[in-house]
Amino acid sequence: MIDDIRLDSATPLQQQLYRQLSQRIIDQRYLPGSQLPSSRQLAADLGVSRNTVNAVYDQLKAEGFLQSRAGKGVFINEDICAALNQPTQAFTRTPGNTAPLPPLPVVPRHNLRLSEDANLPFQPGLPDLDAFPIRSWNRILHHQESRRLLRGYDCIQGYQPLRQAIAGYVQASRGVRCKEHQIIITNGAQQALSLIADVLLQPGDRIFCENPGYRGARYALSRHGNPLLPIPLRGQVLDVDVLADMGPAKLLFCTPTHQYPMGGILDIAQRMALVQWAQRNQTWIIEDDYDSEFHFHNKPFAAIQGLFDNTPVLYVGSFSKTLLPGLRIGYLIVPEPMVEAFLWAKRVTGGETPLLPQATISEFIESGQFARHLRRMRQLYREKWTYFQKLVLEELGGLVTPVAESAGMHLVLEGDFDDLDLSQQLRAKGFGSTPLSAHFIGETTRTGLVMGFASASEPQIAAGVSALKSLLLRN
Ligand SMILES: Cc1ncc(COP(=O)(O)O)c(C=O)c1O
Repeated sequence: MIDDIRLDSATPLQQQLYRQLSQRIIDQRYLPGSQLPSSRQLAADLGVSRNTVNAVYDQLKAEGFLQSRAGKGVFINEDICAALNQPTQAFTRTPGNTAPLPPLPVVPRHNLRLSEDANLPFQPGLPDLDAFPIRSWNRILHHQESRRLLRGYDCIQGYQPLRQAIAGYVQASRGVRCKEHQIIITNGAQQALSLIADVLLQPGDRIFCENPGYRGARYALSRHGNPLLPIPLRGQVLDVDVLADMGPAKLLFCTPTHQYPMGGILDIAQRMALVQWAQRNQTWIIEDDYDSEFHFHNKPFAAIQGLFDNTPVLYVGSFSKTLLPGLRIGYLIVPEPMVEAFLWAKRVTGGETPLLPQATISEFIESGQFARHLRRMRQLYREKWTYFQKLVLEELGGLVTPVAESAGMHLVLEGDFDDLDLSQQLRAKGFGSTPLSAHFIGETTRTGLVMGFASASEPQIAAGVSALKSLLLRN
């Protein structure tokens, strides 16, 4: 009965024979109760060793596809075929047909397939990967790698020395008021945002978001279907005054020390008004402090989390810009009474964060190399920004308007064009960017390109500007 098995040399023979036999039994091309040739016969027919056939028969017997009958030979199990033959309304199998899958999930409409070319020059959010001090990093990594302590489980909250190092860093450089046990290490800022949605949101709770704003936050915060309400900007910062007329909200997401993507900084009067509004309205502010290390116009402003004691602020930080996005390490700082709830949410969703990168970052900070690296990057990005801005003014004057505040690691070039189309055309030429319109909830009121210059070398900056110029002139 077996004359349709074909074996090749690409994969192990045993694996091929197993797959082909089991598939034919499932498809009922070999009928229930029918006898298979002896292993000696099949081995001779296929030109393989008898051991190979015996191993496959044994595996199929163990899984219930086949049965041995004493003194008679090997047969296809009738029970499994009976199970396959029971038609139901939703699941009817005919030989050779692929069964339909149960209902598939509804896929969000966002186009998230950045994938292969996510690291193009000018990709927003990407640091200079080549300027990373890989040798010193590797020295620390190798040292940490040999520690037995890092091979087992750790606590959900994250590696304690890293939390201690972060506490020291955010207190000194960002004015954050916290103790180490208020810090939860996360899988990037993105996990912190998702945890906030899990812990705080009840059906129907409203969420306010800066508009335009950070898409990653919108995706995470709307994951349970809560309504997102856009809060417009005034100039390049959140318009705090409109909040008074907006009614209640459970959460407000904002980037007060460097609005993403427009780059404005809320002044002290507006920050105080924002925190007081949140206190009056029982709203939690999510402060995403994603790249405040890189300010060129002013010294970085302190975080609003530290304005007063007990601000209703959930502070989100990340090493994606200051070190590398590939590490996927971020942190969430919450008021003490909320820590347990977040730890539970983290336990049931992601579990622990990998220990080795945490331990490496903590030694990198403690040894002073983090502060040195930030100083170097600040200088490097300032030079790139100056160069990029100069070329934009010289080459693209009249075609785009750079939003000066947005300097940090990216520059927004506003202009009256189809920014989605232009961004795609630029990508086809090997340069990243995101369309400004994609950062809006609802109606788009501004168009332009968000261009991350930090990841581009000077020759790439020049080539990117010239590619953009030719596209703008052609369109
Ligand atoms: C506004 C903003 N927040 C946070 C992040 C960092 O996200 P993650 O730590 O998940 O890489 C980014 C990265 O691009 C960002 O642009």
